[in-house]
Amino acid sequence: MLDLTPDPADLEPVERASVDELRALQLERLRWTVRHAYDNVAHYRRAFDEVGAHPDDVRELADLARLPFTAKDDLRDNYPFGMFAVPRERIVRVHASSGTTGRPTVVGYTREDIDTWATVVARSIRASGGRPGDVLHNAYGYGLFTGGLGAHYGAEKLGCTVVPVSGGMTERQVQLISDFEPDIIMVTPSYMLALVEEMERQGIDPRATSLKVGIFGAEPWTQDMRAEMEQRLDIHAVDIYGLSEVMGPGVANECVETKDGLHVWEDHFYPEVVDPLTGEVLPDGEEGELVFTSLTKQAMPVIRYRTRDLTRLLPGTARPMRRMEKITGRTDDMIILRGVNLFPTQIEELILGAVPALSPHFQCRLERTGTLDSMTVVVEHRESVTGDQAAAAGAELRRLVKASIGVSVAVEAVAPGTVERSVGKMRRIVDVRPPR
Ligand code: DLL
Repeated sequence: MLDLTPDPADLEPVERASVDELRALQLERLRWTVRHAYDNVAHYRRAFDEVGAHPDDVRELADLARLPFTAKDDLRDNYPFGMFAVPRERIVRVHASSGTTGRPTVVGYTREDIDTWATVVARSIRASGGRPGDVLHNAYGYGLFTGGLGAHYGAEKLGCTVVPVSGGMTERQVQLISDFEPDIIMVTPSYMLALVEEMERQGIDPRATSLKVGIFGAEPWTQDMRAEMEQRLDIHAVDIYGLSEVMGPGVANECVETKDGLHVWEDHFYPEVVDPLTGEVLPDGEEGELVFTSLTKQAMPVIRYRTRDLTRLLPGTARPMRRMEKITGRTDDMIILRGVNLFPTQIEELILGAVPALSPHFQCRLERTGTLDSMTVVVEHRESVTGDQAAAAGAELRRLVKASIGVSVAVEAVAPGTVERSVGKMRRIVDVRPPR
């Protein structure tokens, strides 16, 4: 694969700042943010007052732990614009995420916020191996979802030629990749798989396209999925992370030269990892729930926002900023099956790492008979596989799940093309259990 390590001279100075310089900058920005939130958002004033916290208490970064958390419900309760810290007239854009239940969460940006966002996405694309002048195929959805426009503004800011395709119309996407010869694709990993299949259907060798880099995010994907993508497409597969409440894509990104976890762009987003049950701050290196405090956002500062994403923080490598390990899953995606906790990513790992006859197209179906919950992994077998081989592979996956996760599941190995395809985020869990 090509060496796409960026020239250090092309990085922003802050990407090379020492940890001490970074901490000083963070403290100054944190103090501004906390004051800004307290003075301008009724919710924060009330939440701080309730626990007796005050912006003046924040004298060092560790003092952040005295402040209350913010949860998704706080955003819902203040629907639509109650969390904004600037007059509505200064908001130049809103986005919203629907989630699975209840009111959507609305986020807003000032002109300066949009520029900050474009800067961190441009930085993310550069870290992934992108350069000014590259053609970038953007298949993240445009609209209220932050993926499409977030990637778009960042790519333009870096100086790429953006092809704003959005999600869907898979056949045409492949046509455009053949005709426009993009260097980079930005898309969810699950939709990338659908594009690879479509290439194969059209008789195009996925390894022979112009693509050099895939910047995949918006949903969990494993190291084994990276190996699968890099092998099938002959590209660098790099991870991008973000969430609407904190900004959108570009909160953290892997560096193409190391691919060892995602560097958090700490000059704009301050990460903590906490025990999901007690809320206690955990030392770097320990796994727990990721929590973010924005450091420069004007329109919608967030203080200690609980992401529900599980990971751990690690020291910097390719950049001095800390890394977060690839996300294992969300607390909401954790399946508790007869007392055993499991994540769809564990199933993905077993399929891709140990059962070559099966493909990464799968869903976990949760059912209930009487009082007993059960799970069926519905997974496609690969094209070249016979019926007998598929059945054997299904049995093998079942054995592996029992042996490594410790719970019995059923496995249905189905024909290629049977499992629903996503054009954005893939639905890994289909829960048909009646409510208790
Ligand atoms: O998904 C923003 C985004 C767009 C990120 C495009 C990357 C690329 P939301 O719709 O608000 O925003 O969903 C945020 O998606 O809390 C994670 O659970 C999940 N997520 C995002 N990126 C990753 C990733 C966008 N790289 C939620 N790995 C987050 C695992 C991810 N999960």
